[in-house]
Amino acid sequence: METVIGVIGGSGVYEIDGLEGADWTRIDSAFGAPSDAMLIGRLAGVKMVFLPRHGRGHVHSPSSVPYRANIDAMKRAGVTDVISVSACGSFREDMAPGDFVIVDQFIDRTFAREKSFFGPGLVAHVSVAHPTCPRLGAACASAARDAGVTVHDGGTYLAMEGPQFSSLAESRLYRDVWGCDVIGMTNMPEAKLAREAELCYASVAMITDYDSWHPDHGAVDISEIIATLTGNAGKARALVAGLPGLLGASRAPCPHGCDRALEHAILTAPEA
Ligand code: ADE
Repeated sequence: METVIGVIGGSGVYEIDGLEGADWTRIDSAFGAPSDAMLIGRLAGVKMVFLPRHGRGHVHSPSSVPYRANIDAMKRAGVTDVISVSACGSFREDMAPGDFVIVDQFIDRTFAREKSFFGPGLVAHVSVAHPTCPRLGAACASAARDAGVTVHDGGTYLAMEGPQFSSLAESRLYRDVWGCDVIGMTNMPEAKLAREAELCYASVAMITDYDSWHPDHGAVDISEIIATLTGNAGKARALVAGLPGLLGASRAPCPHGCDRALEHAILTAPEA
């Protein structure tokens, strides 16, 4: 089966370099319009589909990103492997701004978003015990190392609704009581929807700040975030450029079963 790499780029990542035959293409979705058109082309012989999560011009807030349309459009474009690239804050001294984290767990505290493709009339409960694909995560970690990035393999991501950053009390709760490693506003429900769509999903979280818990850093400062993001954008693009070589132009069924997640999940047939 052909590998098609889908990249959902977050703040600061609105393009990918060096795509051959690249074209911005609008793909309709049954769940509304995606964030933007998708840039489709080839890199080292592998088909790549790039979607800016917030749209070019950063027009969608974390709460208004059309997550279902984005994942549905990726599926319709033939994507097999979704790489999420996003900014995050850090709860750990040793996970510093500029470092990348290959997230492997989430705590979902978002509440104002459509979170499932399923609903009345078609009921499905997929497992998200392991919400990311270890095979894809390992490729991202390896590509990040090759790009000269300090990368942390594994981490728990607190997904918050935003758009405001956390209070000090919230930041301490997530860090000291819940044991989270990083915090961001966009990876949920994206990861859950990718699983429902039977897509392998890996999350590359680029640390921009220490959130508000850190005694030496105080409140989150948006100008610091933007400065770090600008520094990270080139590293993120280098990481993406390394993926075709690591994943190859064809793929076997996912050894972790991401691409078969619905096999035992649907309880109601559509015609029932
Ligand atoms: N994105 C970047 N930094 C963040 C933070 N501290 N909290 C939530 N989202 C973020």
